[in-house]
Amino acid sequence: MRKNIVAGNWKMNNTLQEGIVLARELQKTLEEKTLKCEVVICVPFIHLASVVAEVKTVIVGAENLADKSSGAYTGEVSAAMIASTGAKYVIVGHSERRTYYGETNAVLKEKVLLALANGLIPIFCVGEVLAEREANKQKDVVSTQISESLFDLPTEDFRKIVLAYEPVWAIGTGKTATSEQAQEIHAFIRKTIAERYGSAVADSISILYGGSCNAGNAGELFAKPDVDGGLIGGASLSVDKFLPIVEAF
Ligand code: PGA
Repeated sequence: MRKNIVAGNWKMNNTLQEGIVLARELQKTLEEKTLKCEVVICVPFIHLASVVAEVKTVIVGAENLADKSSGAYTGEVSAAMIASTGAKYVIVGHSERRTYYGETNAVLKEKVLLALANGLIPIFCVGEVLAEREANKQKDVVSTQISESLFDLPTEDFRKIVLAYEPVWAIGTGKTATSEQAQEIHAFIRKTIAERYGSAVADSISILYGGSCNAGNAGELFAKPDVDGGLIGGASLSVDKFLPIVEAF
């Protein structure tokens, strides 16, 4: 059985002090609940160690990692450094990294290898931009992103990955994909994985939906058979908005 996961992505928000307050509040709220999913918060590098110390019910992840293992790469943060904070997950290939920082499928392949080599679970993001959706190219885009970055992995490594389908036109825009649109691409992703690794592996991989997921639409999205949770940006920045998404399972 694959895992249901609701993962927050704080992006470049919250000072260290604000982040600690939010993590503490989330821990206090969630520890009293019976959860039907794993809850993850992906936070800026400088928050990692402090947030790990605040939470037990919630698992912590980073938002990015370097594509090199160590050395003279000023300003970069390695997979080993992230793992040393107690973080367990790392987002790889978020569309904001692809678009604003030029991260290619080839660079992301290196990042995935380094994450896995250091015991981190990659949350690997894929998704088309609006022009690609309008040209009906979303399936080609997503399958190329997955195959170029992930399909050289041996089965035992591929099985560890979590995927997130995030149509770029839905991120931070308030325009959510309909649950049918999400299900269609999630099922396509699972089929693409099955063709490469077999259906047992495809069925074991969690595929999250991201892009303006909120309290109002999470229940309908998560009810779809191939949607195993969400990657949540804006709505992960307050417990009031995040909790109903976590409880949508
Ligand atoms: P959003 O972001 O929920 O604010 O649309 C999702 C994401 O970018 O992971």
